[in-house]
Amino acid sequence: MNGENVADGAGITPKLADKLLAAGADVVTLGNHTYRRGGIGDYLAASERVIRPANAGAWTPGRGLAVVEARNGVKVAVLNLLGSLYLDVPVSPWEVVDELVEQARAQAPVVVLDFHGEATSEKVAMARLLDGKATAVIGTHTHVQTNDARVQPGGTAAITDAGMTGPHDSVIGVIAELAIRSMRTGMPVRFETASGDVRIEGVLVECGTDGRATSCEPVRVSVS
Ligand SMILES: [Fe+2]
Repeated sequence: MNGENVADGAGITPKLADKLLAAGADVVTLGNHTYRRGGIGDYLAASERVIRPANAGAWTPGRGLAVVEARNGVKVAVLNLLGSLYLDVPVSPWEVVDELVEQARAQAPVVVLDFHGEATSEKVAMARLLDGKATAVIGTHTHVQTNDARVQPGGTAAITDAGMTGPHDSVIGVIAELAIRSMRTGMPVRFETASGDVRIEGVLVECGTDGRATSCEPVRVSVS
């Protein structure tokens, strides 16, 4: 799961990361808000299952690749990269992706990339680049589930955005009035997390032990 905003809408704390793992997440990926909360740097430096974007730069603590075991014993590598369009990235994802995926494939037949990006074009391009090399390329960051879950010809599942688990009666999680006030006035506004229409969103990918995806379906469950 991507957990970059579990700390009240921005960032993650060590305590919350542990909570996600205890709840059943095998790997937690992050994004542009990785280091928003205190104490998370040291936590990431020591964690093997909570990872930050691999292109976050050489000086930031943490790693961008995790390898875990599925229930049937098959190894699964999870990667995290940050998109370069409209986001500040120390290193272009395009520079590091080939080597990163190669590293992952050397350790696991199933390879899942969380590509945390702002632009649909960049996320679609990354999915195409990795067709036949990864099991799934899952887009995150934009919070709005896209209508393009698919398995590409080479056997790589993809969706441009897996959506948001959180309150959908909001502006991507924030109380709508506050987000609108900020946009209309250009003044700083303290954002608060909304509470209505909570949904769990994500994507369900099926694959063989060879890592080739056979199906890719969006998940959307109402919980309030
Ligand atoms: Fe993000």
